[in-house]
Amino acid sequence: MWVSRISSLGAQAIKKLAQGKSAYIPGTQYLCASSSRIKTSLQLPLQTHRYFCNTAATNSHKDGNEEQTINVTFVETDGTEKQIKVPVGTNLLEAAHSNDIELEGACEGSCACSTCHVIVMDVDYYNKLADPSDEENDMLDLAFGLTETSRLGCQIEAKPELDGIRLALPVATRNFAVDGYKPKPH
Ligand code: FES
Repeated sequence: MWVSRISSLGAQAIKKLAQGKSAYIPGTQYLCASSSRIKTSLQLPLQTHRYFCNTAATNSHKDGNEEQTINVTFVETDGTEKQIKVPVGTNLLEAAHSNDIELEGACEGSCACSTCHVIVMDVDYYNKLADPSDEENDMLDLAFGLTETSRLGCQIEAKPELDGIRLALPVATRNFAVDGYKPKPH
């Protein structure tokens, strides 16, 4: 399984480079860790879905109409709550970066890391989210402190029914690309 994952990540990286974008290529340490981690987590019920990743956030504000926003609260590791307004159609990683919330996002929304891991605090909101793709589930398996309501922030798109959602930031993330380095949002 991890061999095909390597091919997939390589293809993603080449595609991004060809488009002139930066690419995140997990190193050997990542691959070793993921193979054992995936094995142990395959039993999780989250593995059963069949969707592909949405990697690009969109702005819904292109036609001149009034921008619709929803309220999203991020709860940081020290308990500090930050409530922000997020335009419908924006993914929550982008929204966090636009509001100086420390959600890492090492692969910039390519669904190739787990550093944008967030925990949906209310299961009712969790159930309103689209099912995670297989790729998202694979990355979630690598997330530190995985919970039953964990998701990747870059894969959650703001929708009107998510107004009021609360997301907790995990106490740590796994960044196997460069230890301890937190890339700044663009
Ligand atoms: Fe890497 Fe979301 S930023 S998976």
